[in-house]
Amino acid sequence: MAEHAATFRRLSRADVDARTRALNEESVLDGILMEVPVGLAPSERWFERIQTDSSRRDFALAREGEAVGFSGLVNISQRDRTAELYIFMPRAHQGRGLGSVLLEATLRFALLELNLRKITLYVTISNTAAMRFYERAGFFREAVLKEHVWHRGAYRDRVIYSRFLAAGEADRSAFYGALS
Ligand SMILES: CC(C)(COP(=O)(O)OP(=O)(O)OC[C@H]1O[C@@H](n2cnc3c(N)ncnc32)[C@H](O)[C@@H]1OP(=O)(O)O)[C@@H](O)C(=O)NCCC(=O)NCCS
Repeated sequence: MAEHAATFRRLSRADVDARTRALNEESVLDGILMEVPVGLAPSERWFERIQTDSSRRDFALAREGEAVGFSGLVNISQRDRTAELYIFMPRAHQGRGLGSVLLEATLRFALLELNLRKITLYVTISNTAAMRFYERAGFFREAVLKEHVWHRGAYRDRVIYSRFLAAGEADRSAFYGALS
């Protein structure tokens, strides 16, 4: 249902408000490590700063002009051809297949535009829905960092997931055909 109607694009200044609101939602802040509450003014300054940061790319998935999900590749290393991935969807847009669309588009960008070969991400151990989501998308569990983060009031394990990327013709047409 969602795939044909959703457009993958770079994060724009106009998305910062919706992104900030999503970051403060309970179901999202459970899955991400940022200190909350996240303010709009710091988010706007963050957006200006990242415009000149070549070690990262930030994206939005849009439907009818509205940003319905956010993702990014950070710590991009062109030497190792690796990056770390993040993704989060506002509560209203979770569980409808849109996260899978955004995840695949982000991975295709990593492969086809940046020529990356391995993508890694970190999941807090309590986030079982996210682990299922990544495993279904072909990520494998690489390691567990014990009591690695102070997350929402407790020390928690972080699970490292990775996926090696390999290009197929289907990826090329799916990615470039869905940009406009
Ligand atoms: C994890 C996250 C990014 C997944 O995105 P999503 O849009 O919810 O994911 P999808 O809808 O593609 O898949 C999730 C569920 O919806 C189901 N689903 C997939 N396509 C569907 C569709 N077209 N219609 C209905 N349900 C669908 C999937 O089967 C899956 O079900 P499950 O609960 O059995 O796993 C999102 O839930 C989120 O932002 N969570 C909070 C932040 C977070 O934890 N981020 C990750 C940090 S590591």
